[in-house]
This record gives sequence, C-alpha cells and structure tokens, in this order.
Amino acid sequence: MPNMSLRKRVSSLRDSFRQRFGSEPAVVVRAPGRANLLGEHTDYNDGFVLPIAIDRSVLFAAAPRADRQVVLHALDLDASTAFSLDDLAPSSAQPWSNYQRGVAHFLQARGYRLQGLNAALTSDVPIGSGLSSSAAVEVAAAFAFRALNALDISLPDLALVCQQAEHEFAGVPCGIMDQFVSALGRRGHALLLDCRNLAYEHVPLPAGVRVVVCDTGVRRELAGSEYRVRRAQCEEAVRHLQAVLPGVQALRDVTPEQLAEHRALLPEVVYRRARHVVLATARMGQAVAALRLGDAVAFGQAMRDCHASLRDDYEVSCPELEALVDAANEVEGCYGSRLTGAGFGGCTVSLVAADAVSEFERHVVQRYRQQTGRETTVIVCAAEDGVGAI
Ligand code: GLA
Repeated sequence: MPNMSLRKRVSSLRDSFRQRFGSEPAVVVRAPGRANLLGEHTDYNDGFVLPIAIDRSVLFAAAPRADRQVVLHALDLDASTAFSLDDLAPSSAQPWSNYQRGVAHFLQARGYRLQGLNAALTSDVPIGSGLSSSAAVEVAAAFAFRALNALDISLPDLALVCQQAEHEFAGVPCGIMDQFVSALGRRGHALLLDCRNLAYEHVPLPAGVRVVVCDTGVRRELAGSEYRVRRAQCEEAVRHLQAVLPGVQALRDVTPEQLAEHRALLPEVVYRRARHVVLATARMGQAVAALRLGDAVAFGQAMRDCHASLRDDYEVSCPELEALVDAANEVEGCYGSRLTGAGFGGCTVSLVAADAVSEFERHVVQRYRQQTGRETTVIVCAAEDGVGAI
C-alpha cells in the first residue's frame, strides 16, 4: 500500500485487527525502514554508519492474551500463524514469522517474561530491496512486546535483540545498522553510529536537499552468500594484519597508511576489501562535518567516492545499480548517488536539491528504462523518527 497515507494505513490495520480478533488493538507500533547515506559494509567491521530512518514502515497492531500464544496475521501476505512462547524455533513453513519468533526468543533469553499476544501487521517497505524491511518487522515486534509487557529494556538493547533474531532465526549475519536506526532514528536527521560501542548522535540534514531512493527492481539474490564472503574476507584481513599490528581488533582500527605499509601481507582481493572499509572509516569524520555545515556538495562527493569504492574494491554493485547511479549523476542538482545497503541489486540513494527532484525523477526513470529495459521506482524519502507507538 505504498501510496496510502500513514493515517489511512493505521485505520485499515485497526479494522483488520478488529475483524480478525474481535477487539481493539492495545497498541499500534510503527517501525521504519532505512536508507544509508554513508558508511557501507562498515558496521560489521566496528566502523561508522550514517543512515536515516525513512517514511516507509511496518505497522504492528497488538493486544495481549492471557495465555502464552502468539497469533500473527500478515495482511500483505494474507497469511496467519500461531506459536507458543514456550516453544520458539525458526519455522520453515512460515518463514515470514521467524522475525517475531526470534525476537520473542531473545527477549526471553535475556530474562524478560512475556505474555502472549494477538497481532496484525502490514508494511510498505519494499521487501528485499535493501531498505531493511526485515529489521523494521523485528523492531516493530520487539517494541510491541516491550510495550505490552512493560519491559525495562533500552532501545539500543532492543536493537541488539533484533539483530540476534536476524542472525539466529533468519540466518543473516548482519551488522547492527538496520535495527539500530529503525529503533533510534530521528525526524529530519541522519544517525551517526559508532558500531563498536553503539555511541550515536543525530546529525541534522541540510535544508533544501532531499534524500531520493531509486529501486533497481533487482532482488538481491547474491546478497546472502556474498555478504558472508565479504565478512569473512574482512576477518581474514584482520588476522593477517594482527601479525604486525597486535592492537588491531577490527578493520576499524587500521589507518590507510598502515594498510598501505602492510599491503604485501594480504592476498590482493582481501587487500581491496580492506581498503574499502579503511578508507570509509577514515573519510567519515570529514563527510559528517560537511553535512553539519550544510555543504551538500562536499557530502555528495563523499557519497560518490563511497560508491566507487563499493563498486571497484568491495565489488557489491551490479549493472542495474550502475545504470541508476550514472543516470542520477547526469542530473544537475544531484550532489551524489550511491548504492545503499548490502548491494547486488536493491536501491540507490541520492542527495538531490529540492528544486531538482522532479527533473531527477523524470530523467532517471527514462534513462534507466533506456539502459536496462526495466522500470525503477523513485521514492523521495523524509527522514523519520525511529520506532514508536502511534
Ligand atoms: C545489510 C546489513 C547491514 C549492513 C549493510 C551494508 O543491510 O543488514 O548490517 O552490513 O548490509 O552496509
């Protein structure tokens, strides 16, 4: 339901909840998807990321039950399932519910006592497009459990629970970025997160620019397997470098000079993967300073540099992403454009002058069609607050 306003989405979700469960929901939670502006494939290297929470979200309506059953209805899939809080394991029959199962499991593993619930959910975050639809589902469910059980758990800890659910119940060894920004994003701001200690600050987005997401329409078939390979290559780089730099725990600790000096220790491919991460870490400070000053030109250049490095060194781009980035860069008023998320399809993110957005959309749609024979969906995103009850 991408074009329905939030109010309409909430009211239609409430209706469905009432029809199905015969009562009003006690809480309706909204948890956003995300677009990452800078710092890609850095979160699992203890580095920095700079995502925004976007105005595409999962809505999760829930009411407590007296027993230990969780009954879920996914409106968009027209699917239902039920499970007991005493018997939590991933389900191969209902994989869409593994996020909720995992979240419940890891909340209980931390000692929180949960009551059952009835829930209905719907999402307008495009699935599999690299905008973190799964993190939004996890965070929405976790927040609903927290609200209905009055759990004393912080939002950063809730994000960690969601990450664990993604690792163990969905089988994706992701970093912390997606769940964290879905929980702690702020309207009008990007979130600068230090993925080593989870220290964060909100950085205001300059006036007069828009964040524009373009979807390749290519679903990320390779993202799972190649993501694991990239993680392993980063770990391999760390192991080699530790021989000469014993203080290094993660690529985050390596400077560009150190990497250049010890290049010979690393296999060529591993060196290039490491160079992407090390340069991304080194460049983040200046880029954030530019953003704070409202210098969209300098920040846009950092986005372009990041994309080049993701394409050439990290090798997570694909022809469709390249076509979108090239088309974006042809538009006057586009400051920078890059792939966002894991890569191998999914979306690009571009920073565009507000008054150039319609020309941007017109040009990119047309060029993309010419170049690839495919259609792109263009989403002009507002930076939104992280999870909350509405
Ligand atoms: C996926 C993961 C994130 C992050 C990005 C790449 O979105 O879920 O943790 O690693 O890829 O930056």
